[in-house]
Amino acid sequence: MPPVLVTGATGRIGRGVIDRLVAAGVPVRALTRQTEAAAKLPAGVDVVTGDLTVPASLDGALRGAGAVFLLWTAPPTSAAAVVGRLATHARRVVFLSSPHRTPHPFFGQPNPMAVLHAEIERLLAAAGIESTIIRPGMFASNATAWWAPALRAGDVVRWPYGAAETAPVDDRDIAAVAARVLYEDGHAGGDYVLTGSESLSQAAQLGIIGDVLGRPIRFEELSPDEFRGATEGKAPRPVVDMLLAAWGATIGRPAYITSAVADILGVPPRSFAEWVADHADAFERAPIPSS
Ligand SMILES: NC(=O)c1ccc[n+]([C@@H]2O[C@H](COP(=O)([O-])OP(=O)(O)OC[C@H]3O[C@@H](n4cnc5c(N)ncnc54)[C@H](OP(=O)(O)O)[C@@H]3O)[C@@H](O)[C@H]2O)c1
Repeated sequence: MPPVLVTGATGRIGRGVIDRLVAAGVPVRALTRQTEAAAKLPAGVDVVTGDLTVPASLDGALRGAGAVFLLWTAPPTSAAAVVGRLATHARRVVFLSSPHRTPHPFFGQPNPMAVLHAEIERLLAAAGIESTIIRPGMFASNATAWWAPALRAGDVVRWPYGAAETAPVDDRDIAAVAARVLYEDGHAGGDYVLTGSESLSQAAQLGIIGDVLGRPIRFEELSPDEFRGATEGKAPRPVVDMLLAAWGATIGRPAYITSAVADILGVPPRSFAEWVADHADAFERAPIPSS
């Protein structure tokens, strides 16, 4: 069996894809820009260096590869050249996109990432590559970046749009779906929106974190402008504006929920509480340094 080339191999989703492919006995080649990454990946994985912004650097990685898991966090300029190379070498591509075609206000707001995802999908279609598109909604693990710093320091989270509902999807379910559609037949042309199974307000998600940690968490609502001020210099303004627009637009609406994870994996998606329980360490109070 030719190896599956996994891009984004050292990141949240790609790393999980590798673990599941290895468990299924599928040969894996992992792409990274970091020469020292081999030590962090499972034994037996063929680690190759390459950079999506330097298309010629991918030739070695693509030689002899069967399918490719494509995840794009790089700038968009080299996307056309990379897709051209994929079309020459790979039998099929599974692309990690987002639900930008889903008719729900949360997904319908201006979003530079969605523009990039749509462009890569267009390039894949134009190149005639057999492809499968997976479109996760909010990752459950966003909670770590968003709320762990405040919860390690105390019990108060200051955040906007506490009433905005999302259906966080566990990174492990996204990775499991990606791996499954890479090695299982029947997914060519597949287009799957992946969500968790519960519509939870952001305040409710914090309530679940508090329940799992066994400590009360106080939610303090910030206005959008207060949130822009609080994230100044810490998060890119376009990302902050994208999130504010999506949360604001979904107020009063339950989150969009699909059955795709269960349909593909044959088991229900993991709950947000399960994700929190398995990552509780990230939210535990930092120890007070002894004097
Ligand atoms: N967060 C969400 O709620 C959400 C929802 C829907 C979709 N998404 C999409 O999910 C993707 C992010 O996935 P993730 O969280 O798993 O990513 P991540 O943890 O941030 O990891 C990024 C990966 O991309 C690789 N990478 C970055 N620049 C590269 C380059 N120039 N050439 C080759 N590899 C490069 C990095 O590899 P090295 O450093 O080892 O080279 C790393 O493995 C994005 O496309 C995002 O739009 C996110």
